[in-house]
Amino acid sequence: MDMTEVKAMINILEWEKIYKSKVVSADEAISYIRSGDRVVVGHAAGEPSYLVNKLAENYETYENVEIVHLVSLSEGKLTKPEMRGHFTFNGFFLSAGNREAVAQGYADYSPGFFHELPKLLGRDLPVDVALVMVSKPDKHGFCSFGTSSDYTKPAADVATIVIAQVNEYMPRTFGGNLIHVRDIDFIVEHDEPILELQPAKVGILEAKIGKYCSTLIKDGDCLQLGIGSIPESVLPFLYDKKDLGLHSEMASDGIVDLMLAGVINNKRKKLEPGRSVFTFVMGTRRLYDFIDDNPEISMSPVDYVNDPTVVAKNDNVVSINSCLQVDLMGQVASESIGMYQFSGVGGQVDFVRGAAMSNGGRSIIAMLSTARKGTVSRIVPFLDKGAAVTTSRNDVHYVITEYGIALLKGKTLKERAKALIKIAHPKFRPELKAEYERRFAEPYDMRMRYIHQKENS
Ligand code: COA
Repeated sequence: MDMTEVKAMINILEWEKIYKSKVVSADEAISYIRSGDRVVVGHAAGEPSYLVNKLAENYETYENVEIVHLVSLSEGKLTKPEMRGHFTFNGFFLSAGNREAVAQGYADYSPGFFHELPKLLGRDLPVDVALVMVSKPDKHGFCSFGTSSDYTKPAADVATIVIAQVNEYMPRTFGGNLIHVRDIDFIVEHDEPILELQPAKVGILEAKIGKYCSTLIKDGDCLQLGIGSIPESVLPFLYDKKDLGLHSEMASDGIVDLMLAGVINNKRKKLEPGRSVFTFVMGTRRLYDFIDDNPEISMSPVDYVNDPTVVAKNDNVVSINSCLQVDLMGQVASESIGMYQFSGVGGQVDFVRGAAMSNGGRSIIAMLSTARKGTVSRIVPFLDKGAAVTTSRNDVHYVITEYGIALLKGKTLKERAKALIKIAHPKFRPELKAEYERRFAEPYDMRMRYIHQKENS
């Protein structure tokens, strides 16, 4: 053995020793969480299910433990009614498993741009415990946060105690997404399939919307795709494009085939060329296997990926996100239906603004024209009472439904209202036109001298 080999051996032995000294049972690991602690739980597919389940089983041991989380793919055991007083859920994004708990008042929601969350955790919301899931260590002793870098890695960076479930099912991803075993306090070894999300169903109407969106996408554009079925409906219509790039908060299964087909090759990106950049992914095992050890995937914390000034470093950024309601001025409500908090702002505004700052950038808000099986219009005279405006009328650029494309940026209030009424469902247009006439004190059909609207009705 020469000196280099000896040194490498010492290095390996050292981290393995450290690793072994930190392995504990799940029961012991969660015993270090104390009543009153703030616990940040790994995000989406990065939720350490085994440890969360243990916490839920032992809920009576704890009082007022604050659970900070975003998108949940699990059934939300810590927000069940019996957890009240034991765990206080503080969600920065709500999902099916915890929406009702917030509506009933025994869990809460925190507004805030996704890219600012790591700063909050380091400053305003001190983290007592980061409860995370990581991959097995590599030969240098580094574990990967795999599917979820976002706020998960930043929380581990600032937490007083880091408890990690080491799970061989967690993929290993590159970018700024690693933690050395010496920086983990307690390791619980438990292999189990990680949480999955099945691809959203894309129906005929969603496909129409996807097609309209694709007409605004050019060869070489750098895409961000948001959450829900609509952003995903665009992907099948991109196979005739060339040299697309991805710098997106999240990714789902749809990107795999586009990358394998070479349509997304990230060639023309200025920032991280050759790599698709995400802060988290959620989908099926196929996606998780695809990102595993894949040098074309770069995963980094959300304060980098979603920072609008970082997003804007690429040219021709196109962001595609969805919403629940748009009013006639172009105010976009994407996270609440009236007072009912449905989800969260996520990275919608981060990317709408990043796209606006990018040379040649465009942002798209795409949605079905109606909701609740066609009984309500999503284009409305006024947002429902209490609704939060997610993307403001000053930020909004394109709005798309299955009836076409409305270009709102640079348009007057009258032009906006007309453009939106044209893409509303026909059965709701008469009441929207009546509101137009009431608001602007002129007939809806009066000719405007300055219409440059793109029309597709
Ligand atoms: N009034 C009443 N109900 C409404 C409604 C409205 N205006 N709009 C939607 N709904 C209902 C739908 O009918 C549906 O209920 P149903 O399944 O019982 O019919 C439910 O609310 C969900 O709506 P849908 O549009 O299908 O949701 P989605 O899963 O496609 O997600 C958003 C859409 C807007 C909720 C989601 O994209 C989101 O949370 N966006 C904000 C954050 C974001 O964009 N982040 C981007 C980066 S990840």
